[in-house]
Amino acid sequence: MGKALDGVRILDFTHVQSGPTCTQLLAWFGADVIKVERAGAGDITREQLRDIPDADSLYFTMLNHNKRSVTIDTKNPEGKLVLEALIQKCDVLVENFAPGALDRMGFTWERIQELNPKMIVASVKGFGPGPYEDCKVYENVAQCVGGAASTTGFDDGPPVVTGAQIGDSGTGLHLALGIVTALYQRTMTGRGQKVLAAMQDGVLNLCRVKLRDQQRLERTGVMKEYPQYPNGTFGEAVPRAGNASGGGQPGWILKCKGWEHDPNAYIYFITQAPVWVKICNVIGKEAWATDPEYATPSARLPRLKDIFAEIERWTMTKTKFEAMEILNKYDIPCGPILSMKEIAEDDSLRKTGTIVEVDHPVRGKYLTVGNPIKLSDSPTDVTRSPLLGEHTDEVMAELGYSREQIEALRTAGAI
Ligand SMILES: CC(C)(COP(=O)(O)OP(=O)(O)OC[C@H]1O[C@@H](n2cnc3c(N)ncnc32)[C@H](O)[C@@H]1OP(=O)(O)O)[C@@H](O)C(=O)NCCC(=O)NCCS
Repeated sequence: MGKALDGVRILDFTHVQSGPTCTQLLAWFGADVIKVERAGAGDITREQLRDIPDADSLYFTMLNHNKRSVTIDTKNPEGKLVLEALIQKCDVLVENFAPGALDRMGFTWERIQELNPKMIVASVKGFGPGPYEDCKVYENVAQCVGGAASTTGFDDGPPVVTGAQIGDSGTGLHLALGIVTALYQRTMTGRGQKVLAAMQDGVLNLCRVKLRDQQRLERTGVMKEYPQYPNGTFGEAVPRAGNASGGGQPGWILKCKGWEHDPNAYIYFITQAPVWVKICNVIGKEAWATDPEYATPSARLPRLKDIFAEIERWTMTKTKFEAMEILNKYDIPCGPILSMKEIAEDDSLRKTGTIVEVDHPVRGKYLTVGNPIKLSDSPTDVTRSPLLGEHTDEVMAELGYSREQIEALRTAGAI
């Protein structure tokens, strides 16, 4: 079966996490992704957080599946010519260097357009244009400047960053959407364009509900679904909401059987209004269904803490999986807190290709997260990440270089 992006060639100038997640997705959708790496060293993540000596790290292998790797010294004059040949042959250049690095290399937007007017140049940067545009940015910086950290954690503690890589992988996703959109527009205009996904913007986009709450707070001075209500105080900015739900249906994380020794024996429980009566019946508080102090969502808001404490008395008598099974019978929305160990061992995630076992010639078998986006006409086959420079000769031959020319460039240190 063909793939959605068959025929699309990507010059992948990305490194670390944000850019590679973007080009990995494009590769899974069928694009030919040619990763250009620095000769001898490669993407710095190849050696970061290594668990096996001399083998590409999981950090690298899990972000670079289905790509080809070529090594080019793009600061070497002859290496630059190879890169120019690649620019002429590819549809999209994706990069996430520090601001200005591509220009310093000599590949300005104008130069790239001269070489290939159809080229789409897609970049991840920490910030968009403005006072911080020249700053380097990593994941947690993006979480802090995008509004995630100030709104995550508990009221009595410091700001907290989340484990979900919303700054890096989140921005990679945004960039991938920008790229396929630009490719679509190109089918009508015939022109390339610049695509920019700033990490601050990407995180803020994912924190949209918190900017909503900022404006609600300014108008009303109080937000009744926040744990600060009714007894705590609200300041001028959206506070940290602990585990409260971001939506209109209150939720909280509750202890389950075994919580004393298992750090993940918890369940997320949502007191969705339409199933309130069922919740009352399940936890044995039938009277709450008709008691005016509990029967309506607005009556419950000032009592949420006590309500969740009562529900927890019930969840603590069940394991998180037992609670999930019982609650789902009644359509009560909930979710067990799954550990990474449990997720790694989950059969259903393996069956759908969301968790995939991959074999690698140096490191052996390892688990990875496959393509989370499933297309019925473009299935994803996850293949291992490339070794450093594994495809240099192959790609150079495709660009029209002879064996002798390739050897000469290698001797000159250009590739
Ligand atoms: C992530 C980041 C902080 C890393 O910074 P860094 O390790 O110092 O790396 P840089 O991006 O500055 O660039 C590396 C240098 O290598 C050079 N380089 C990269 N590939 C090369 C190649 N194949 N041959 C020769 N030189 C190469 C670049 O030209 C640049 O040189 P310069 O500084 O002289 O211009 C930075 O790239 C960044 O802010 N990126 C944008 C935001 C982002 O994506 N952050 C998330 C990362 S997960």
